[in-house]
Amino acid sequence: MSRLRAGGKVLLVVLLQVLQWQAGETAFGRDECNELSVSSPCQCAPSMAEYEIYCPANAYNVFPKFRLAIRPNSNVQIECNLTDANEYKQLPPLRIGEIERVQIQRCPLPGHTPIAGILEHLGIRSPKMLIFESDNLGVNITRRHLDRLQNLKRLRFTSRRFTYIPADFLADLRNLSWLDLRANIVELPAHLFDNLENLESLELGSNGLKHLPHGVFSRMPKLRHLNLWSNQLHNLTKHDFEGASSVVDVDLHANGIEQLPRDVFSLLTNLTEINLSANHFRSLPEGLFEHNKQLRQVRLLNNRVPLSTLPARLFANQPELRVLLSALRSSRHCPSDLLEQSSGDHEHSP
Ligand SMILES: *[C@@H]1O[C@H](CO)[C@@H](O)[C@H](O)[C@H]1NC(C)=O
Ligand SMILES: *[C@@H]1O[C@H](CO)[C@@H](O)[C@H](O)[C@H]1NC(C)=O
Ligand SMILES: *[C@@H]1O[C@H](CO)[C@@H](O)[C@H](O)[C@H]1NC(C)=O
Ligand SMILES: *[C@@H]1O[C@H](CO)[C@@H](O)[C@H](O)[C@H]1NC(C)=O
Ligand SMILES: *[C@@H]1O[C@H](CO)[C@@H](O)[C@H](O)[C@H]1NC(C)=O
Ligand SMILES: *[C@@H]1O[C@H](CO)[C@@H](O)[C@H](O)[C@H]1NC(C)=O
Repeated sequence: MSRLRAGGKVLLVVLLQVLQWQAGETAFGRDECNELSVSSPCQCAPSMAEYEIYCPANAYNVFPKFRLAIRPNSNVQIECNLTDANEYKQLPPLRIGEIERVQIQRCPLPGHTPIAGILEHLGIRSPKMLIFESDNLGVNITRRHLDRLQNLKRLRFTSRRFTYIPADFLADLRNLSWLDLRANIVELPAHLFDNLENLESLELGSNGLKHLPHGVFSRMPKLRHLNLWSNQLHNLTKHDFEGASSVVDVDLHANGIEQLPRDVFSLLTNLTEINLSANHFRSLPEGLFEHNKQLRQVRLLNNRVPLSTLPARLFANQPELRVLLSALRSSRHCPSDLLEQSSGDHEHSP
């Protein structure tokens, strides 16, 4: 009996040790932090639930080449001040462990090698989200830069400089559900998104897009949110939205659009919300939304030029529609049958 109990105790102790050992394996902690300050040119300091690392350390930690903030089991933020991608060699090797989200800011690409190399050097395992926000990438981005990141669910990739995006850039990211590309992109390759069969949200705002390749959104059967605000998409046609019938909201605000073809949204049959604010409409065509039977909200605020009149029945026969309008100069020109058969709140803000 007592031997059995003793045996149980031994087992418990062994179990606890295994658990501790595993916990030690999986998360960066105080020991690693102290060790780093002693044995590397970096300084590590705990602060709240985080560890902050400055590399190389100096008296006031001003202008370090790397600043890392580690929140074990959650996220890691890496901020650079490098003149050359070769300086990545000064990043200390770490064993950070499982991390949900990695944010890399103001860092150049690591030459022509994969971004995953940086994460592996830091012992970061299986991140679900990567944010890479650069001022200057240093080299042209390629598919290879995303090697070994095929398990990513969310990716934000931004650059302040004009960025040339190769057609196969995203070819390996089949698990991606959320993508934010803001890199002064002027030309989207027609097949850029072809493999993103799991994508639900696509943010392309604030690029320099003047037109969209036909069918560029047609291979993403789960796409729901399409953000195209603040580009220069002056001449949209229905072909730009070919195969995008799963999309439920589209943001086209601030694109300098003056006019739209009557059938431009006819393929967006599941559309429930659209933002057309801050454009340059002088008129809108009759029947613009006649194919969008699910439409519930149209935003048409802050039109940049006087939109003196809207066609009769523009929003007619849309029982659930809520229209946010401040585009009209005076309600004199608002046809009485504009909203015929539509209900809900129709706000005419002044
Ligand atoms: C980067 O480091 C240089 C000195 O090497 C310094 O002049 C500059 O202000 C630093 N930039 C930032 C954002 O810390
Ligand atoms: C980047 O790619 C563009 C387009 O292919 C090319 O014109 C340019 O020379 C490339 N730049 C570098 C530094 O390789
Ligand atoms: C994608 O996700 C599934 C399950 O969510 C996973 O089994 C798979 O390994 C992931 N990676 C790729 C490349 O499909
Ligand atoms: C867009 O349409 C306008 C006329 O509405 C035309 O003058 C302009 O050349 C077109 N731009 C492009 C890029 O097709
Ligand atoms: C449109 O929406 C309905 C209802 O949410 C959904 O069942 C259907 O699959 C959607 N169509 C497409 C093409 O995604
Ligand atoms: C719609 O456009 C306006 C610009 O007038 C912008 O400020 C706002 O964030 C957009 N709203 C949504 C819900 O996308």
